[in-house]
Amino acid sequence: MPDFYIVPFTLRDDATPIVAAWRDAFAEPPSGPRAARELNDQLLRHGTLPGFTGCVARDTATERIQGMVYGFSNLPGQWWRDRVAQAMGPTRTQDLLDDSFCLMELGIIRAARRQGIAEALVGAVLAQQPHPQALLSTQSDNRGALAFYLATGWHVVAPRMSFGLGFAPYDILWRPVMRPER
Ligand SMILES: CC(C)(COP(=O)(O)OP(=O)(O)OC[C@H]1O[C@@H](n2cnc3c(N)ncnc32)[C@H](O)[C@@H]1OP(=O)(O)O)[C@@H](O)C(=O)NCCC(=O)NCCS
Repeated sequence: MPDFYIVPFTLRDDATPIVAAWRDAFAEPPSGPRAARELNDQLLRHGTLPGFTGCVARDTATERIQGMVYGFSNLPGQWWRDRVAQAMGPTRTQDLLDDSFCLMELGIIRAARRQGIAEALVGAVLAQQPHPQALLSTQSDNRGALAFYLATGWHVVAPRMSFGLGFAPYDILWRPVMRPER
C-alpha cells in the first residue's frame, strides 16, 4: 500500500498548505526560491480557466501535502499556448496542441521524492481532465524533471524553446492520455 493518497483541489480549498508544499518542491535551482504570492496569484488566474483540474498528494499518516499538480485546457488566446503554437507551426499545432491539456507546477516536497508520488499525481490529474493529449514545459537544464518525464511516457516535441527575452530555454513535452477500455 502506498503511504499517500491523492485528492482533487479547486479554488475553494485553502491554498496555504498547497503553496507551502509547492515552495518546498521548487526551493532549489533551476527553479527557486519562489515566493508564495507567485503561486497564489497564478492559481487565481488559472483556477477559473476551462478544464481546470488540480490534485494534491497527502501523506496517509499525517495528512501533510507531499505534492501538487494542476492544469487546464490549452485554448487559443492563452499566453503559453500561443507561444508554443508559434514555435511548433500550424500542422504540429493541429496535431499536438489542439484538444490538449496544459500541465503545470508538478512538484513533490524534497523529503518525499522517488516514491512514485509524481507519477501517481500526473496519472490522477490526466485521468480527470477531458483531453486525449497533454503538454508541459520544463527548463531545458532541469535534469531531474526531464528524467522523470522521459521515464513516464512524455516526449520532447520542441527542445530549447524560447518564450522571449529574459527566459531560460524550455523543452516542450507531450504525451497521449491513455484511458481504460470501457
Ligand atoms: C521531478 C519530480 C516532480 C519527480 O517527483 P517524484 O515523486 O520524485 O517522481 P517519481 O517517484 O514518481 O518518479 C518516477 C520515475 O521517474 C524517474 N525519476 C524521477 N525523479 C528522477 C530524478 N531526479 N532523476 C532521475 N530519474 C528520476 C525514475 O525513473 C522514477 O522511478 P524510480 O524512482 O523507480 O527510479 C520531483 O523531483 C520534483 O518535484 N522536482 C522539483 C520540481 C520540478 O522541477 N518540477 C517539474 C516542473 S516542470
